[in-house]
Amino acid sequence: DIADKTASLLLPWYDRHARRLPWRSLPGKRPDPYHVWLSEVMLQQTTVATVGSYFAKFLARWPTVSDLAAAELDDVLTEWAGLGYYARARNLHKCAKRVADDFGGRFPDTEDALLDLPGIGRYTAAAIAAIAFDRPAAVMDGNIERVTTRLYAIETPLPDSKPALYKRVVAMTPGKRPGDFAQAMMDLGATICVPGKAKCMLCPLVQICTGKDIAETLPRKKPK
Ligand code: ADE
Repeated sequence: DIADKTASLLLPWYDRHARRLPWRSLPGKRPDPYHVWLSEVMLQQTTVATVGSYFAKFLARWPTVSDLAAAELDDVLTEWAGLGYYARARNLHKCAKRVADDFGGRFPDTEDALLDLPGIGRYTAAAIAAIAFDRPAAVMDGNIERVTTRLYAIETPLPDSKPALYKRVVAMTPGKRPGDFAQAMMDLGATICVPGKAKCMLCPLVQICTGKDIAETLPRKKPK
């Protein structure tokens, strides 16, 4: 079955082709939860290319979440300028204070506890739990939706297909290296299983992909 083979085909590909992004740790090393949280919040409505320099600036100025918690909100908003959606920056500061005050500066390590924090929604909670804490959380974003839709040739349009997609991702997510699995799905969607014409000849999942012949037509979208 597809779900049993996905991770074992995808992780070796990721080991060779992972994008070297500033917030990713060296291979085999757990990344700092503060770095994972900061990058995932920045990436919520901003591209990977733009986030890089902001991520570096923030870490240089506030090396730990407790440093960020102790900062003036105005200084955080000033450093955020250009990333947009200032509510994200306000929530970032609020969340840093909660982690510093209620958790001794250490991020909680379960999806449920993370969901309780300001500015952390379903996607971000799952991403932090998987990437920073090795929890087998099912991470869903636009890239992962497209990859999964094609892998399973799901012809039901988005957003109606979302519950089915989530179940598929739950089944595919491995107990080992769930964070690498999620990031491998993101990288596959960003570089190979791209919108429009997918580069199936380069895809490590081509042998198990049921939607490759109709990939260009997937995912379908419900007319608004
Ligand atoms: N977009 C959001 N989070 C990401 C991550 N961890 N890696 C690559 N792209 C992303």
